[in-house]
Amino acid sequence: MGYKVSIVGISGAVGQKMLELLEVSPIKVDSLRLFASNKSLGKKFPFRGKKYKVEQFDETMDDDIVFFAISAKFAIEFAKKIIGKVGKIIDNSNGHRMMLDIPLVVPSINGKIIKKKDKIIANPNCSTIEMVLFLDPIYEAYGLKKIIITTLQAVSGSGLRAVSALYDETRDFIENRSVKNKFYPHPIAFNVVPFIGHILGNDYSDEEIKMTNETKKIFGDKKIDIFATTLRVPTFYSHFETIFLESKLPIDIEKLKKEIERDPLLRLLDDKKNYNFPMPISSAGTDIVDVGRMRYGKNKKELFSVISADNLRVGAATNAVRIAEYIVDKHLI
Ligand SMILES: NC(=O)c1ccc[n+]([C@@H]2O[C@H](COP(=O)([O-])OP(=O)(O)OC[C@H]3O[C@@H](n4cnc5c(N)ncnc54)[C@H](OP(=O)(O)O)[C@@H]3O)[C@@H](O)[C@H]2O)c1
Repeated sequence: MGYKVSIVGISGAVGQKMLELLEVSPIKVDSLRLFASNKSLGKKFPFRGKKYKVEQFDETMDDDIVFFAISAKFAIEFAKKIIGKVGKIIDNSNGHRMMLDIPLVVPSINGKIIKKKDKIIANPNCSTIEMVLFLDPIYEAYGLKKIIITTLQAVSGSGLRAVSALYDETRDFIENRSVKNKFYPHPIAFNVVPFIGHILGNDYSDEEIKMTNETKKIFGDKKIDIFATTLRVPTFYSHFETIFLESKLPIDIEKLKKEIERDPLLRLLDDKKNYNFPMPISSAGTDIVDVGRMRYGKNKKELFSVISADNLRVGAATNAVRIAEYIVDKHLI
């Protein structure tokens, strides 16, 4: 038996990637509907040999799997309208992630929490997904007390308008025109914007708080101390992160490296002879998290490392499609 599938937000950065990944997914799709705003109505996108027209969001939909790749505001509004009629909604936005009764899922880590009765499954933040995929084997083997992260996030993390802004600002700079900010509060070309989202009353940005809260929810562990600093940098694809962690038990780096090499979701790039380490240009376009520069701090319970992963794939669409595959595989629909 196949499934009735829809993607809401098909014309965006995440929606496009989701269609690309669904194309090669083992999920049998009997019918596909694609939605976006009025601006994109009538555009056509190919899928498994046929072309599908973009439609206006339809409250009467009765699809089995609905992917949301839209803003949190629309995700909450649209979910309310269709929740009783559809099978499962997989929401990429921030809208449902911290709601107590909604599972926040990275399937390889906590897929088991999804129940047949769950209607909405939240996809975590892009920087959170790549970080927890790296941390999971460490959490399982050595326990985690503290994590301090700095992210260097690509502009595609803010959607397609931000990608165009970086192109345009870069062109203005190279062609000797004055560079005006076209998307972020400051120019992004040849710059670093030292915050992502809004600065809150506690002086952290909402992106930083998302990483903290979501990581605790995914591991089901409120005791880990997590501090994030999230930065926007002028790269197009793949988020890079530097991570310092304190474990409960001493870490055996060589053993951990072997585990990373065996893990199909991670790739060890820690070749100091050839200076081959994780970089956005090597992780972009892949479905794995690159890990490297691993070294101890003052003892074996302190570890420094860097990671890099494609924010639109690993950090969004790949995880969303993996959630759908998990649901189908476990007959949760
Ligand atoms: N980019 C990332 O790396 C990333 C990672 C994880 C999660 N997310 C989350 O995923 C969601 C989508 O992000 P994105 O980067 O793909 O944004 P985007 O490129 O700006 O795309 C937004 C999408 O929403 C659609 N949309 C807007 N208004 C709509 C309406 N009234 N009805 C139906 N569709 C509507 C847009 O359609 P039109 O083109 O027709 O306007 C477009 O397809 C956001 O919540 C974002 O926070 C993004």
